[in-house]
Amino acid sequence: MCFYKFPNDFWWGSASSAAQSEGASLADGKAPTIWDHWFEQQPGRFFDEVGPAQTSTFYENYKSDIQLMKQLGHNSFRTSISWARLIPDGVGAVNPKAVTFYSSMIRELKDAGIEPFICLFHFDMPLVMQEKGGWENREVVDAYVEYAKTCFELFGQDVRYWFTFNEPIVPVEQGYLYDAHYPNVVDFKRAVQVAYNTMIAHAKAVSAYHDSAQNGQIGIVLNLTPSYPRSSHPSDEKAARIADLLFNRSFLDPAVLGQYPHELAQLMADYSVAPQTQPEDKELLRSGKVDMLGVNYYQPRRVKARLNAVNPDGPMLPEWFFEPYEMPGRKMNRYRGWEIYAKGVYDILLNLKNNYGNIPCYISENGMGVEDEERFLVDGQVQDDYRIEFIRDHLIWINKAMSQGANCRGYHLWTFIDCWSWANAYKNRYGFVALDLKTQQRTIKKSGHWIAQIVQEHGFEC
Ligand code: BG6
Repeated sequence: MCFYKFPNDFWWGSASSAAQSEGASLADGKAPTIWDHWFEQQPGRFFDEVGPAQTSTFYENYKSDIQLMKQLGHNSFRTSISWARLIPDGVGAVNPKAVTFYSSMIRELKDAGIEPFICLFHFDMPLVMQEKGGWENREVVDAYVEYAKTCFELFGQDVRYWFTFNEPIVPVEQGYLYDAHYPNVVDFKRAVQVAYNTMIAHAKAVSAYHDSAQNGQIGIVLNLTPSYPRSSHPSDEKAARIADLLFNRSFLDPAVLGQYPHELAQLMADYSVAPQTQPEDKELLRSGKVDMLGVNYYQPRRVKARLNAVNPDGPMLPEWFFEPYEMPGRKMNRYRGWEIYAKGVYDILLNLKNNYGNIPCYISENGMGVEDEERFLVDGQVQDDYRIEFIRDHLIWINKAMSQGANCRGYHLWTFIDCWSWANAYKNRYGFVALDLKTQQRTIKKSGHWIAQIVQEHGFEC
């Protein structure tokens, strides 16, 4: 008999975000974000027309929810602070009710023996900042850095693990390339500027933290999608290399190595989409390297060389450089339509070990979204054996990477309680805990009981 053993100090838990769990979206002084605004303008763009006001009401129920986390064996939990709640005008005065809420929530976590991992920005741009041009405007970058410093000062005594951004590529691709999120722009050059300015904001916030008197760690959460070519033919491999550059290295390299890959800069120059920069930027990036990394992993990206010509009159898109490849026989999550490839997490961890100085990292999101999950209810409990299998398979590959020296310190599932998700609202359920949207009742799923046991035993049998 063998046993997949995880270190006793491994971080076990789950992740969520302010906008997706708090609710009270316009209460107690919170100003609107782009999500509140977009829902008001175009409710039809949201699944079932459910908007950001309908959440699991963490703002009211955080105390009992934290007790529930304890039951699941959590020793850590990631959520975010809402910029629009803390500083309603984007800059300037702090909202005292927000300070009370976040201080109390963080304290409650600590009292329950749960380490808070706090992210500063999870897709929820304050509307007032978007109206100034969002990340395209360097003034917004500076406002964000002030907001970050305010958070460090207010909550830094109790928070040891900070993240500047969650998945910074998502607002870039969904908001500026694919018309899936507000502000619904489709423009490669503007997307590049947004991506670039986000990383300048990130680097400045990292340096501000390092300059402060605090002795925790700061990082960034990146959704890394290993890019696999259809074949070892050079044209397929080139396609995969470009996909990797655009979707992974565009954030990973500046965050960890403090500079952009030369090939990426060249590509941007070749297509006349290079961002506007300022003379001090190179030094800002060099001095704003992260202490650690959060890795979100859901699915890989499989690509092949582009055979069909792109429409030269259509907008420039990443797909100019590759075509998606639907590998025959790949395992799919049939309840969500995403590929399941657990070895991808191993490949990511080994890549970080071999090419990124084995930076300390942890899996900050991984999970399985399922539509209509009520169909798996038996005697009031969701029998999510598929999720148990999914987590187990990923943990096995994480364990293998760790046994080969990868510096992975923990695992957080997306998510704690089923939550509202951007334009998808409640379409895909991900939680360890089921949420009844009508009654707000929470019920631990089978996977929630299962994980509690894994945590207690520091692993599981092979
Ligand atoms: C992650 C995001 O990329 O995916 C989360 O960080 C999001 O905020 C999660 O909720 C799942 O997304 P979806 O669209 O499947 O509900």
